Amino acid sequence: MPSLSLRVNGKPVDTTVDDPDMPLLNLLQHDLELNGPKFGCGLAQCGACTVLLDGVPIRSCTTPVSDAAGGEVLTIEGLGTMRNPHPLQQAFIDEQAAQCGYCLSGPMLYGKVHVERNPNTTRDEIIAALDGLLCRCHTHYRMVKALERYAAVVRSGAKV
Ligand code: FES
Ligand code: FES
Repeated sequence: MPSLSLRVNGKPVDTTVDDPDMPLLNLLQHDLELNGPKFGCGLAQCGACTVLLDGVPIRSCTTPVSDAAGGEVLTIEGLGTMRNPHPLQQAFIDEQAAQCGYCLSGPMLYGKVHVERNPNTTRDEIIAALDGLLCRCHTHYRMVKALERYAAVVRSGAKV
């Protein structure tokens, strides 16, 4: 039973896993009771399970938990709180960019990385950054608007 140490949403996690090939999503959902990353397809096809691993968006449904050893994982829960939402979360709220919210880990985290690297991003570039992220509720247009709103926050120099 190998031991595993990593950080999740800024907190140290020291645990053991029976199978180092177990998907990272299983650790996050079942052991750490995080509900942000979702199981959608389980095949790296939809993006509902997206988390950042050392600042890079990954599909946690197909990422072996051993890949996260020593790493820093961020889920959408780690962005902000209900009382104090992160500016990215506030932008999604302001644009009402979620219906059921099941898919949001993908557009929020791929969008976060894209916008923070490219604050002067265009609408077409945002659409390209969200390519391959599925939303059954068809709120893609509002997600793009939310990320345009977030880009304006980043450009303003506000702390994000
Ligand atoms: S559940 Fe991981 S990409 Fe769909
Ligand atoms: S908001 Fe429902 S799946 Fe995207």
